[in-house]
Amino acid sequence: MTITLAFDVYGTLIDTHGVVIALEKHLGDKALDFSKTWREKQLEYSFRRGLMQNYKNFSVCTRHALDYTCSSFKTPLTQEDKETLLEVYKVLPAFDDAKEGLALAQQAGFRIFAFSNGSAEAVEILLTTAGIRDFFLGVVSVDTLKSFKPNPAVYSHFLRQAGATGAESWLISSNPFDVIGAVSAGMRGAWVQRSPDAIFDPWGIEPTSTVQSLTELTEKIRSTP
Ligand code: LAC
Repeated sequence: MTITLAFDVYGTLIDTHGVVIALEKHLGDKALDFSKTWREKQLEYSFRRGLMQNYKNFSVCTRHALDYTCSSFKTPLTQEDKETLLEVYKVLPAFDDAKEGLALAQQAGFRIFAFSNGSAEAVEILLTTAGIRDFFLGVVSVDTLKSFKPNPAVYSHFLRQAGATGAESWLISSNPFDVIGAVSAGMRGAWVQRSPDAIFDPWGIEPTSTVQSLTELTEKIRSTP
């Protein structure tokens, strides 16, 4: 059985808090809190747009979430400052373990895809800038379906695009909602617990496997019956 991996992008391979340095100029020691609220709102907006069936490209969720966060932090950034931050968001860095984790997965013969709420174009730029694009057979985006994770249809879409079945495919994500969505849609799911404080939602739908770093992933998948 050939194993197929669907790597989530934002928060799993790519560090969304890579924007903190650019935020420090405006927010000082509140930059990380701002970045967390920005990210949480971005995801909330994607969930809500999915439910409302009022799809807009993920970059619109990012932009609107930035506007919201500026209001919430009472930090009235100029339009130019916001555009600069959104440009930084397009070239966020990869996490330190991404390259080694992907190389191990590739050596194991796994079929590797990126699977994201981000548009294919945005994800191509992120992965290329981060120097990890060559590990992937392809980029699958929810944009084709005009919906967002964790709509079960987007996981089916991934499987069709990758030419794989749920039983032989793993969603790899640091986002618990994404892992729960994939497992609930019939895939396997590895949760990347990027911090000891990260909590997996207590829904009774468990990850197939949990790792602390992408470098542990390949061994964990190999040892899962
Ligand atoms: C993604 C979101 C979940 O990359 O961060 O799909």
